[in-house]
This record gives sequence, structure tokens and C-alpha cells, in this order.
Amino acid sequence: MTLPPDALDALLEAMLAAQLALRDALHALGLTGEAAGQPAWPFAHRLAAEMLAIDGGHARRVALTLGCVLLALVLVLAALAWRARRARWGLSAAALALVLLAPWPSPQLLLAPAVPTSLHRSPTDFAAAGIVRGQAVYAAHCVRCHGADARGEGPDAARLPMWPPMLTGGLLWKRLEGELFWRIRHGMHGRAGLQTMPGFGPGQLGDTEIWQVLDYLQAHAAGRMLRESGAWERPVRMPSAALRCRHGGLRDARSLQGQRLQVVLTAPGAALPPEDPRMVGVVVGGAPAVPECEAADAHLLPALALLLGVDAAAAPGHTLLVDRAGWLRARAQPGQGGWSEDDLVCRSAPGASTPPRAPADGQGLDALLRRMDADAVRLVRGGFPH
Ligand code: HEC
Repeated sequence: MTLPPDALDALLEAMLAAQLALRDALHALGLTGEAAGQPAWPFAHRLAAEMLAIDGGHARRVALTLGCVLLALVLVLAALAWRARRARWGLSAAALALVLLAPWPSPQLLLAPAVPTSLHRSPTDFAAAGIVRGQAVYAAHCVRCHGADARGEGPDAARLPMWPPMLTGGLLWKRLEGELFWRIRHGMHGRAGLQTMPGFGPGQLGDTEIWQVLDYLQAHAAGRMLRESGAWERPVRMPSAALRCRHGGLRDARSLQGQRLQVVLTAPGAALPPEDPRMVGVVVGGAPAVPECEAADAHLLPALALLLGVDAAAAPGHTLLVDRAGWLRARAQPGQGGWSEDDLVCRSAPGASTPPRAPADGQGLDALLRRMDADAVRLVRGGFPH
């Protein structure tokens, strides 16, 4: 028997929340310091999520042990509140037995090595300007080993003790972002202590630049996935960027969260699709009339081009749909007449495909929006739902 998916998600969420609460409480009490502007994780290990998703037996043991420990806590509290002595002893003994008899999982499966920034969250908000800045950082410092296409075949790669990994697939999402940050800041070492990748600490790259190069790598990997497999296998957010809107003036794309967006990439002078009451229209790249919203940040077009896996010059003509939670969900390519459910390129169950329907009528878009709203996606990093 394995845990049902919802229970597993809840367990993983609870594990992450408990660790964040512990980290922040220790920091609030003045017992721990900061690293890179956020409270530091003070322990050499953290809870590991990966094995929970893979090994059903392990997940069940973790859930049962958690249940036993919580129940034991309740019993201890009850014992403290109870007047009769004998009942107190009885409850305390039951609590102890529960903790001792719980099916404790093996520490090798439960724990993973940690660094002070393990639980850090990127402060960049996936801003379009940061993604573009990260691209320049990558070209200046990383291309020589990782290669222009991030496939690990840069000009210096063959001389290294090991080949750099492909940064175009799922690797970036298998890690916690705070741990990627640490590895870029402090470098990586192999088994014999030999350095495999140099660090780019203060003096070479600022903390913000490291977060930005990670944003760039993610945007680039997402674009590769879309180009090669026709899907965003990992959910990607609409980049944050300033928009000029008919109502509300200058505002960030994030402030439109809660509404669906239709993001139209265009060239100055091109005809725009009609406005649609079901979505906020956002025009990127020049507009003839005053649209609902238009990009007021020149970085948004190149950032979206990266996510689409095309050159900035080839981006106009694409249209993207963003769901109410801010995830990029559907793409229409240049010249495509209308929408169908197949344009949903980011789904909760990757690979789940629907039979193609006739596009080019209003119903295609209706069905697509219904499906997009019903099928919420969720980001997983290092095995933890975020
Ligand atoms: C001198 C060559 C070299 C340079 C320069 C370099 N890397 Fe690396 N990088 C490597 C090697 C080799 C590995 C694999 C190391 C290992 O697994 O022990 C690696 C691994 C990585 C990983 C994967 C980490 C993981 O968790 O598995 C990321 C991400 C990464 N590099 C990003 C960068 C970024 C960003 C830059 C530029 C700021 C950069 N690298 C510069 C050689 C390099």
C-alpha cells in the first residue's frame, strides 16, 4: 500500500513548512545568523523529499512515525493537564511507547546533506530584466565550460576532471534552488575533494547575479523543452515586468494574478487579435492602438522568447495564455488560426494528451480555458511542492 498522492503532497508540504518554521524560529531567537540576506539553515542535514515520492514503503513509515509523534505529544499535554497521578504516569508511558514503537524511517532515506542556503527562496521574482541580465552573466562566466546551449560542451569542458552536466533538462528542478545557489557561489567538489566546478562568490558575482543566472538557466531549459518535446514539462511563471495598462497605469504583471492573461507577442504595426472579456490582453513588442496592457519593459520580449525557445526576432506572432495563478500554460504559434485544447503545453500530468479538435472557432478557446482552469499545475523543486 502506498500513500495516496494527496496525502503524499500534504506530507511533503508539512515537512517543508516545519523546516522553514524551525529555521525562522531559531533566527528570530537570535540563535542563528543569515546567509545571503535570508535566515541560514544551521544544520548539516535537512529532510529529503526525493525518496518519499519514489519509495512507497518509506513514505508510509514517515507518515506513520509523524502520526505517532504527534499523538505522543497530545498524550504528554493531556498528562500535564491531568490531576490524578496514576493517569499521568499511564499517559506518559503510553506516549513513550508510541515514540519507541513508531516505525522510524532510515536516516539515510530521510536526510540529505544541507548547506546554509538550502531553504532559500530566490528573491528575483523571475523578473524579465533579471533573466536577460542572467543571460549576460552566463555568457561571461559559464559558457566556457557549460557551452552556449548549456549542454555541457563548452570549449574548456574536455579539459575538466568531469564533463559539466546538461542544464537543459529536468536537473535544475531536481534541486532546491537554494542549493543550486550555494553550488554556484562556492563551487563543487568531487569525492576526493578535487574541485569539479569553481565558485563565483563575492568579488566575482553578487548574490543577485547568481539568482539571475539561475533564472536564465531555467528560462533557457524551459525553451529547450518546449522546442524539443512540445511541452513545458515543468511549470514556468509569467516573468515579472512593468506593464502600462489602460486602467491602473503602470503596474507589474504580477499584480494581474487572479486573472487570466492573453500575452500577444507582436511587431510594431502588426494587427492585434480582438480583446476577449475572459482574459486581460497584454501586448509585448509595440502596439498600434492603446491595448488593455502593453509591456513597458523592453526585457519582456527577449525573456519570453527564451521561454518559447526561439530567437527574439522570431518571437513576434506567438501568443501565450497565463492562468489565474500566474503560470504560462498555452502557446499559439505564428500563423495558427485559433486555439484548441492541444495548445495547452503545460499540464499537471505531462504527456496526457487530448484528441485534436477542430480549431479556428470560439469553442476551441472555450474548451482550452475550461481545461486550463480545471487542471491546476504545481511547481516541484528538489521533490518538495512549492
Ligand atoms: C571551469 C568549468 C566550469 C565553469 C566556469 C562553470 N561550471 Fe558549472 N559545472 C562544471 C562542472 C564540471 C559541473 C559538474 C560538477 C559536479 O557534479 O561535481 C558543473 C555543475 C553545474 C551545475 C549543476 C549543479 C548540480 O546541482 O548538479 C550548475 C547549475 C552549474 N554548474 C552552473 C554554472 C553557472 C551558472 C556557471 C557560471 C556562473 C558555471 N556553472 C560555471 C563546470 C563549470
